[in-house]
Amino acid sequence: MQIFNNRRELQQFALDAKRSGKTIALVPTMGFLHDGHMSLIDIARQKADIVIVSIFVNPKQFAPTEDFDRYPRDFDGDVAKCADHDADVIFAPEIDAMYDGNASTWVEETVLAKPLCGASRPTFYRGVTTVVAKLFLLAQPDYAVFGLKDAQQCFVIQRMVRDLDFPVEIIPAPLVRDADGLALSSRNRYLSADERTRALSIHRSLLAAKARIQKEKAFAPALEEAVATVTAAGGRVDYIEILDCDTMLSPDANTRQVILAAAAFFGTTRLIDNEIFAL
Ligand code: PAF
Repeated sequence: MQIFNNRRELQQFALDAKRSGKTIALVPTMGFLHDGHMSLIDIARQKADIVIVSIFVNPKQFAPTEDFDRYPRDFDGDVAKCADHDADVIFAPEIDAMYDGNASTWVEETVLAKPLCGASRPTFYRGVTTVVAKLFLLAQPDYAVFGLKDAQQCFVIQRMVRDLDFPVEIIPAPLVRDADGLALSSRNRYLSADERTRALSIHRSLLAAKARIQKEKAFAPALEEAVATVTAAGGRVDYIEILDCDTMLSPDANTRQVILAAAAFFGTTRLIDNEIFAL
């Protein structure tokens, strides 16, 4: 397995690989890899000749008040896991190797990125789309795999790829949960044992809301009940909403699939989760 820290070296490697007829699958991550990430690498492994995993805690997607400094990092552990799952390349640049000091260009998707996490974290998705656009240009992937835990992120990136004609196929990968139902996230590391138990209310409330929506064909009572469940468990709800997956607007007669999405704080830790289904 090769490790690149320099973006030009990665780009040269990728261009050479493409010239020699190889296909590339990219798995963008911020490291502190867990089984959810491993499932993305396994999918990438099945799709392409060369699997590149990027490990970069991207400062541009954190607001000044957020957890950039304490975001969990374990580079040696990540390298071992990538090797175990047969990745070919790790790209792990320092911040100043990824962005020039006077970088002044952003890539921004302006519609799907607005609600949900985009409303609570207004600069988050432009940070994501900027770094992902750079990763696509550096790694030259034929495929890029993104987990559906952040389904809105997948939708935003798919729209960016369509709008800007990136020659890459986005592969959305199923959300992975712990045995007790908690969606895997590097941020679960911040939770105390008690907070972790109480955080299970997020998924529980989404499943109950989904069942109620499918039965009653009405949204408001189910969403109110979900907010009450998470609040009763000691969570501070940021949002629990249902939106059309294609438009990220309220579902209407043309809606094919909805995302029932939640974000809630347990202690200082903000967790997200979702269920995607047809009405
Ligand atoms: O989902 C993540 O881990 C990040 O948002 C990503 C896609 C690696 C961009 O920094």
